[in-house]
Amino acid sequence: MSIKTVATTPFSDQKPGTSGLRKKVAIFRSPHYLENFVQAIFDTIAAPQGSTLVLGGDGRHYNREAIQVILKMAAAFGFGKVLVGQGGILSTPAASCVIRKYHTYGGIILSASHNPGGPDGDFGIKYNTGNGGPAPEKITEAIYARSKALANYRIFDAPDVALDQAGSFTLGGMVVEVIDPVTDYAELMESLFDFDAIRTLIRGGFRLCFDAMHAVTGPYGHEILERRLGAPAGTVINGVPLPDFGGGHPDPNLTYAHELVEIMYGADAPDFGAASDGDGDRNMILGRHFFVNPSDSLAVIAANARLAPGYAAGVAGVARSMPTSEAVDRVAAKLGIPCYETPTGWKFFGNLMDAGKVTLCGEESFGTGSSHVREKDGLWAVLFWLNILAKRGQSVEKIIHGHWAEYGRNVYSRHDYESLPGDAADGVMAHLKSQFTELPGKRFDAWQVKFCDDFSYTDPVDGSVSTGQGLRIGFVDGSRIVFRLSGTGTEGATLRIYLEAFEPDTAKHHLDAQLALAGLIAIAGDLSQLRARTGREQPTVIT
Ligand code: G1P
Ligand code: ZN
Repeated sequence: MSIKTVATTPFSDQKPGTSGLRKKVAIFRSPHYLENFVQAIFDTIAAPQGSTLVLGGDGRHYNREAIQVILKMAAAFGFGKVLVGQGGILSTPAASCVIRKYHTYGGIILSASHNPGGPDGDFGIKYNTGNGGPAPEKITEAIYARSKALANYRIFDAPDVALDQAGSFTLGGMVVEVIDPVTDYAELMESLFDFDAIRTLIRGGFRLCFDAMHAVTGPYGHEILERRLGAPAGTVINGVPLPDFGGGHPDPNLTYAHELVEIMYGADAPDFGAASDGDGDRNMILGRHFFVNPSDSLAVIAANARLAPGYAAGVAGVARSMPTSEAVDRVAAKLGIPCYETPTGWKFFGNLMDAGKVTLCGEESFGTGSSHVREKDGLWAVLFWLNILAKRGQSVEKIIHGHWAEYGRNVYSRHDYESLPGDAADGVMAHLKSQFTELPGKRFDAWQVKFCDDFSYTDPVDGSVSTGQGLRIGFVDGSRIVFRLSGTGTEGATLRIYLEAFEPDTAKHHLDAQLALAGLIAIAGDLSQLRARTGREQPTVIT
């Protein structure tokens, strides 16, 4: 056995997006593609010889092969140890938990999150630093720069390592420790939430359903919800992780989590429903016949945080991505704590959490989390809700309506136009920008434009600046429309339109968000010339 140095030529398209490098499986399978990117990571992060790395993925197609390649390259690089999830599996929040718990140098997570899997689906890879969070932009930019200059990569020439049983193996001078992917994470959850109260709630007849969507959270759901919290077998549906997610699209929203939605809106629906995505960092929360908007979910968690033992001392501050509704801002104002507005993507929360400025953070895209790890965390959000429900003894719907009555309702929706031709999407954005000088002061029916800009962010901790983070049109009454192009897709362009209006009047809180936002939706269509430029009449997904 020896280390091979393989000559290679750089790829020009290995620029990480909102969350790591995502491409079709076929592209990752092409000769040297994965190896080049991994070598670019190793060359950039400059881990001292003998360092420890965490490695795992969401189990999608190509996960197992990629894990073997990365292990052999880690051995060639000189890592001392790799902690790898059994079967190559670790949910994204569990990987973050393991990096932090064992103080490793960093970790590599294999996931394309909520994107479809299978041989024709997507694959992804990202590097997380020693704080457990996604590498910040200066590192991802450096990885990209390195990827464009590689002349060779190094790989240990050895047979594959057996990953299906926990245990320790050696690969050259490196130890491969295969760990149970659930245990460390489950222990962390037990330390944060009142499991006794949740157990009592469930024993009292409270019914729940968790849809793992044939993705990574199945084993986590079985262990935590069914075994540790005593929910009956069958509470977790689609709980067996499959490389193609059973042919589904593992994105927990009203469109793709349709099985759960049918159960929660059906006759005799359970009290609580939730789903998670491909790699376990997203969550959707449902009550009986009731959808909880993710922005509201973050606000409710912030307002009720003290009910969970891990947050009983209070919350230092909160953060949300720019397009996320301002519901949590209202809670922060009432609590007298700071609220930070960051660009889209979890990597911007890390510095704030490391500096102790925020405890809770979230995004409208079904992402909620806290400083317990440095990733968003799907099951964490589910457990937080169960903890709140157990302590408050009210239904999900009652809690949300009560929240709106107290704070007012930030009516919110996101419209996604997927798989657009790139130039049509760019044209929409350019056309919007071209109107920015003349828009302020203009009236559209009841709405007067107050400002418009292309959002940029200066990190309050390290001063780094991120520009071009989404076009904002703000109105005098506080409503807003935001336009952004997705940075996670692998096919064409996805245009996201985020719509928000504030409704203080309780009598109007029951209104459907699409109806309540109809005026803003029409303005967004007019200002963007969306139909003319894309030929699309309707969004692909409405949240
Ligand atoms: C999407 C979401 C964003 C999230 C990211 C990773 O990114 O909008 O909030 O952080 O997935 O889960 P986008 O495709 O919009 O760039
Ligand atoms: Zn995800």
